[in-house]
Formats: sequence, structure tokens, C-alpha cells
Amino acid sequence: MGIAAWKRLGLSAVVVQLYDSIYTGLHVIFKSLIEQNKSTVGLFNKLMHGLTGSIFQNGECEGAVNLYDTRGVSIKIEKLNKYYGENHVLKDIDLEIPAGETFSIIGPSGTGKSVLLKHIVKLETPDSGEIYIDGLPVFQSKKKDDGRDYRYSMVFQSSALFNSLTVGENVGLWLREKRVCKEHRIREIIREKLALVGLEGKEGLRTSELSGGMKKRVAIARSLAMNPDLILYDEPTAELDPINTDELANTILKLKETTKNTTVIVTHDLNFALYISDRLAMMHDGRIIEVGTPREIKASQNPVVKGFIYTTTKGITKD
Ligand SMILES: Nc1ncnc2c1ncn2[C@@H]1O[C@H](COP(=O)(O)OP(=O)(O)OP(=O)(O)O)[C@@H](O)[C@H]1O
Ligand SMILES: [Mg+2]
Repeated sequence: MGIAAWKRLGLSAVVVQLYDSIYTGLHVIFKSLIEQNKSTVGLFNKLMHGLTGSIFQNGECEGAVNLYDTRGVSIKIEKLNKYYGENHVLKDIDLEIPAGETFSIIGPSGTGKSVLLKHIVKLETPDSGEIYIDGLPVFQSKKKDDGRDYRYSMVFQSSALFNSLTVGENVGLWLREKRVCKEHRIREIIREKLALVGLEGKEGLRTSELSGGMKKRVAIARSLAMNPDLILYDEPTAELDPINTDELANTILKLKETTKNTTVIVTHDLNFALYISDRLAMMHDGRIIEVGTPREIKASQNPVVKGFIYTTTKGITKD
């Protein structure tokens, strides 16, 4: 029933006003959810995929969502190939990332970094090859999420926030949806995670009021809210200024001291990757052409790696 019909029934202005507000509010939420259904909601469902087990232990969630609770997961990628039509995007990718490592994938634009990351969280399916997480195959598995009990989240290159929700609502969305813990604890977690990314007290802002860099930081806080065992970042520094980039690097390093999670980062930002990573892989034209510690990568004699380091640092970095 429309507002005019309510008015014809002679209801008081207060009731109509109330109905109007609720109707408009719901309309905005549903419209936004429908608009984002293909991208954000779909991604968010997939983002939650594989989150089971220990996190539901306790209604208060004290101890259940706790930075000390995380565990790392190991990743093994074997002979992974992906085609989009004629475009052979991933070419025989072999890669091992042990549990608890901070691992970066660097390389020029269009080499398949994001596509590789999407395979790890099963957003893409390979044409051949396999990925094993904690030794269990991701694609050949007969049952859905067979034996997987780890929490993982991905910070997308595009941030993928819900525009109709506030910053705090975005960060707390998964905790509320899964009813992981009591409301007062959820608010604490939101505060904690926003503080970690330098957005203390910004819970009430709408995402439409944020700059690109702030959106990225909210997306990171949202991912951290679920306290993942495996966290994947796609270009986390792309829209950040140097100060925020430095803060993010320190946040990731700090998380490493307090959690055991495995972190995989795709980035163009070589200095950032060298600073925070245990090891790095360089991708070029769909292949991994070098893997090593920051020191090994800097000392690489591979001409493509040397060229990438030179062009991204303009020869400034000497050690
Ligand atoms: N869904 C898709 N359909 C068709 N082609 C795709 C799709 N996703 C990626 N590609 C193609 O795969 C190749 C690798 O893309 P990808 O996004 O992985 O590059 P990238 O290394 O992450 O680049 P950037 O650094 O610019 O983000 C590109 O040629 C791209 O056009
Ligand atoms: Mg990309």
C-alpha cells in the first residue's frame, strides 16, 4: 500500500511519517542489495565460504574471535592453468606457501596476479592443475568444503563495500550475519579493527562519504573482523598515500606478531612487498619467474626481475 492510500485512510501524520521512513529506508537497502547482488553480495557469500567450526563455539565470543586463535594454513599450487578464450592467463603455476608465511606476488599489470588470487579462494576454476590447502585439494574435492575448517577473507582490488551501509555496519556485517557473538562485543571488534587501520571513531560514516584510500582501509578492517586464518589482499596500497601505506605495512607486521595467519598479497608496490614479506614471487606473462626472500629477489640476476625492480624504484634502492 502506498503513502497516499494510508493518508486516505486518515491515519495521523506521525504514522505516515513513520511508514514513510521505514519504507524509504527498506527501499534504499533493497535497491542497493539488488544493485550489488551480482558483485558484492556474491563476493561476500564467497568470502564467507569455508568459515566454520571454532568461531561458533561461544555466544559471547570471548576467546572465539580472538587474535590468538588464528592458525596458518599452507597453500600448494600445482601446474595451474587458466584460459579465458584464447588468452592463456595462468601458465603452469607451481607455488608453495607454508603456514604462517607473509607472501607477496609482484609483477606488472595484466600478468594474472588477481586471477591467481581468485583461484585460491575458489572464485575462479582452473582449466587444469590443483590447489591444496592444508594438503586438501580445493577443486577435486568431492564434498563442498570437504574437511576445510579455516576462516579466510579477501580484500578485493575494488574494496567491494556496501554503499548503503555505514563504515561500522560494513565492518560488522559478517559478525552480525553469522551471529558470532553478542552485540556489545561486535561493537568492540568493529572499534578495534577500525583503530588498526587508522579509522578510529569513523563507524557512523557512510561509505559514499569516504575517499578511495579510506574505503580500502574499511575493506581491510572488515576482513580482519573475522580474524582469518588466511587473508588475501589484492593491491592493498593502490589508493593509499605514503603515510597510510606505511601504517598498513606496520599493521600487517603487527598482526604477524600476534597471529599465526597466512597472508598472501598481490601488489605492484615493490617496496611495500619487500618490507613486509617473508618471501615474494614475481609473475610475468602468466608465469612465476622467480621466488625468494626479499634479499634474494633484490639480488636476482633474472633480467625481467631486475628490470621490474629498476623501473619501480627508478634505481633509487641500492640495498
Ligand atoms: N573474468 C575474466 N574474463 C576474461 N579475461 C579475464 C578475466 N579476468 C581476467 N582476465 C584477463 O586475465 C589477464 C590477467 O588479469 P589479472 O586481473 O589477473 O591481471 P593483474 O596481474 O591482476 O593486473 P593488475 O596489476 O592490472 O591488476 C588479463 O589479460 C585480463 O584481461
Ligand atoms: Mg589485479
